[in-house]
Amino acid sequence: MAKWYEKAVKAADFLKKSIEEQLGFLPNPEVALILGTCFGEAVNFSEEKAIISYNEIPEYTVSTVNGHSGKLICCKIGEVWCYVMQGRTHYYEGYETDEVVLPIRVFSLLGVKNLIVTNAAGGINTSYKVGDFVAISDHLSFFAPSPIRGVNEEYFGLRFPSMDNAYDTELREKALNCASETNITMHIGVYAYMRGPQFETPAEIKALRILGGDLAGMSTVPEVIAARHCGIKVAGFSCVTNMAAGVTEKAVSHEDVSDTENQVKEIFAPFIEKFIQMI
Ligand code: HPA
Repeated sequence: MAKWYEKAVKAADFLKKSIEEQLGFLPNPEVALILGTCFGEAVNFSEEKAIISYNEIPEYTVSTVNGHSGKLICCKIGEVWCYVMQGRTHYYEGYETDEVVLPIRVFSLLGVKNLIVTNAAGGINTSYKVGDFVAISDHLSFFAPSPIRGVNEEYFGLRFPSMDNAYDTELREKALNCASETNITMHIGVYAYMRGPQFETPAEIKALRILGGDLAGMSTVPEVIAARHCGIKVAGFSCVTNMAAGVTEKAVSHEDVSDTENQVKEIFAPFIEKFIQMI
């Protein structure tokens, strides 16, 4: 019953063929980067690149959210070949979490060793400001099904994988050094995963703060769990696009989330380029 393994092999074979056709060779990147909401343009892609739409890739789910274009780009960032996911799918779109994490399992078959995840999040921690960046140190994930629930596919990893150091300490230290070298204020915080698509209630945010959450968001955690299951190291970054419900007088709206995009592009691109060279 290696359902996800078979699907991942199919997608990985397709990607290898397509990338080789477009580039004339197969670069075999060991770094993958997921550009989430607000981060879609937050890297400088090299001229030399292969671009594949998710809807061409066998077994991939396709994003239904505006601002998530849904492309896999194999390109250089600085001097390092990377796979870049421009857009992701989410549980709230109606997909199951195991469907959402297929790209991570494909990355593992393609030889990826380090995954960088990015997202837009609501600030729970009152010392954060809109537009701030946060290096994720851990997550809370009480309220959503695990992406590795069901028959364990031993090929990918253990039945009961550890989530200690889910967000790799060494990678985070390197990231914090890069942030100070590129003059970005980078907080460190715990990401509380909520299923969405509705924003949280003020009572939920209050509860999440008591539980130790600094940020609230609707993505990332399924991918991180799947990556750790396969032994891929993770670094995660959030941009605070709004203060979470009830933190300020202002009601949360999706417009605030979209408005931050241009700002993110300018600030994050130099940082991520530097960070990737150091991994
Ligand atoms: N809550 C959950 N997800 C989010 C938020 C939020 O306030 N802002 C951006 N994504």
